[in-house]
Amino acid sequence: MDQSGEPWWQSGIFYQVYPRSFQDSNADGVGDITGIIIRLPYLVTLGVDAVWLSPIFPSPMADFGYDISDYTGIDPLFGTMEDFDTLVNAVHSSGLKMILDLVPNHTSEQHAWFVESRNSRDNPKRDWYIWRDPGPDGGPPNNWLSEFGGSAWTYDAPTGQYYYHAFLTQQPDLNWRNPAVREAIYDVMRFWLRKGVDGFRVDVIWHLIKDAEFRDNPPNPYYRDGRPPHEKILTRYSTDQPEVHEVVAEMRRVTEEFGSRVLIGEIYLPLERLVAYYGNDLRGAQMPFNFALISTLWSARSIEKIIADYEGALPPGAWPNWVLGNHDRPRVASRVGTEQARVAAMLLLTLRGTPTLYYGDEIGMHQVAIAPDQVRDPFEKNVPGIGVGRDGCRTPMQWDATPNAGFSTSTPWLSLASDFSHENVVNLDADAQSILSLYKALIKLRKQTPALTSGDYSPIAAQGDLLLYRRQSEGQAVVIALNLGAEPVSVTSSSIGFDSKVLLSTFLDRQDESIEGVLDLRGNEGVVVSVPDQAG
Ligand code: GLC
Repeated sequence: MDQSGEPWWQSGIFYQVYPRSFQDSNADGVGDITGIIIRLPYLVTLGVDAVWLSPIFPSPMADFGYDISDYTGIDPLFGTMEDFDTLVNAVHSSGLKMILDLVPNHTSEQHAWFVESRNSRDNPKRDWYIWRDPGPDGGPPNNWLSEFGGSAWTYDAPTGQYYYHAFLTQQPDLNWRNPAVREAIYDVMRFWLRKGVDGFRVDVIWHLIKDAEFRDNPPNPYYRDGRPPHEKILTRYSTDQPEVHEVVAEMRRVTEEFGSRVLIGEIYLPLERLVAYYGNDLRGAQMPFNFALISTLWSARSIEKIIADYEGALPPGAWPNWVLGNHDRPRVASRVGTEQARVAAMLLLTLRGTPTLYYGDEIGMHQVAIAPDQVRDPFEKNVPGIGVGRDGCRTPMQWDATPNAGFSTSTPWLSLASDFSHENVVNLDADAQSILSLYKALIKLRKQTPALTSGDYSPIAAQGDLLLYRRQSEGQAVVIALNLGAEPVSVTSSSIGFDSKVLLSTFLDRQDESIEGVLDLRGNEGVVVSVPDQAG
């Protein structure tokens, strides 16, 4: 609990670090743990509360660490276990929390468990993975597709069976119906929890349990050309099975053996199914990641609807959360444009629920175009040319104007954005009106304003490009007015009340302005205004 009596993960702001791209300390062009330690003061100044690291465990890197070959080690590329322990201590002594990525759905094909499992049909680990006889025609057992292209089944000639992989061939899925698998992963969780980590972001948690009969998935009637091929079939039988909630609850119980920790689930599902991951009586994940803002059309009316649908779908007592970007989706600054990226920041940091920031979004990093011969992402390699590549949102953090943006003294593993000599932390920090200054001001405002951290949310009717809502806690109320268009708009005081005062504009130039009668917003402007507390 923090001072206000709320659990830290409710009042806090989360920040995702993609370790390969944050800070290189040993001149190999890839970020590492010591690099993260070096940059912790930056995160403290930014004002975030918890750091989530994408995987740092031993891995052949077929999917850049989401293919783990040893769950309780550190890949030498990122450092040593001593470095990790130093990081945890440094994170905690900086007043931050530390979240690790847990990837329980699949291992690397090089994990010792899978090496054993594929050894023979009667190996004790055979049933740790999902093995099936060929279909009647000798082909794959069913029509399930890999998210990264092709069939989700790979034939293993020596044992004459297929194994299932929802992602790459090199990422065989574990069999979560096997209690021994569950116990093994729960022990992995305990290993890291004992080391002091404050929680997990669980990779593709909605994938863990598959249909017991492995029925064919139905075709997707809404499939459009140009979309990734795996979307041709729905995932009715391959994901989001009812029994998965039992597993999520078990994971939650493991975290609770260690006190106040958090369980976050990566889940791409429609809102009404997403919220089931809070579990019966909220005994599931505390934060089933809400990615609605990542995929929405950027318009005031669609966002208003998403917020209403989400708020309406939350089970009683469930705490909301919002995400604007991650290492799998195009950068927000490219999705919504540079001007709207500031409005998006204000939205993220004024909604009800824990916000998660993706590294670099706070300096407005955009999607970097990667030349075809420089592509590293296996998704883009397998399904080229339709824009699924994830390298462009994983480029090195732009720290300063020195060579390689201060990220590394040697050539980075992915090319840098061409504008890094001006779009970097040092420059933007020196500019009182930069997007970085805006992020810092928003984070500070959120923290000092209980109405924003924990207050109620209520929509206010608005038209066109205007998105309007109120946040209210005991004795305090603020109204957020966001202009999602490029033309000016006006908000009448009947919508927001009289005697209001601007607390923050996305342009950072009208603090303390009194609003009498009408609040005028410039194109692409958002403001937070303090308003008289109607309830008070
Ligand atoms: C998750 C990760 C993604 C990875 C996939 C397979 O969606 O975020 O990066 O490729 O799982 O592990």
